[in-house]
Amino acid sequence: MVKFNVYDCTMIELDKHHSDRKGNISVVQNGDTVPFDVKRVYYLYDVPGGESRGAHAHKELSQLIVAASGSFRVTLDDGNVKRSFILNRPYQGLYVKPGIWRDLDDFSSGAVAMVLASEKYNPADYIRDYDEFISFRHSDK
Ligand code: TYD
Repeated sequence: MVKFNVYDCTMIELDKHHSDRKGNISVVQNGDTVPFDVKRVYYLYDVPGGESRGAHAHKELSQLIVAASGSFRVTLDDGNVKRSFILNRPYQGLYVKPGIWRDLDDFSSGAVAMVLASEKYNPADYIRDYDEFISFRHSDK
């Protein structure tokens, strides 16, 4: 099976509705904004300063990661190349394709990482061991 690399993962500009005095609304809808159908949304918050999250890959899951509030860094790794993105705009989302290792760190205080996912929660889809991830990248599964 052909595997995706970090250059297949891109920032997507989300729909933004601006109202002069009343703030903004960003919209994500199945069928137009996201390249997959969203089956689950979760959000990460209250991450203490200096802590990191992620440190895993998914075999099949696609995700859109949005800094709904504050900022953090996402480092993607395809086993060959690493690429870091600073997420700090609620109207942008990082599209993470399957089979990519990710680390999240540098969380600002009050940061909220909202994740839109293509599948329901499935622990069997996780690869949490980096050596196992490298073997997965080199396999044809
Ligand atoms: P995990 O994905 O390991 O978080 P991170 O990689 O960002 O540190 O999830 C942390 C815990 O939350 C773990 O016990 C599983 C649970 N969890 C669910 O029950 N459902 C979900 O959809 C997610 C994302 C996590």
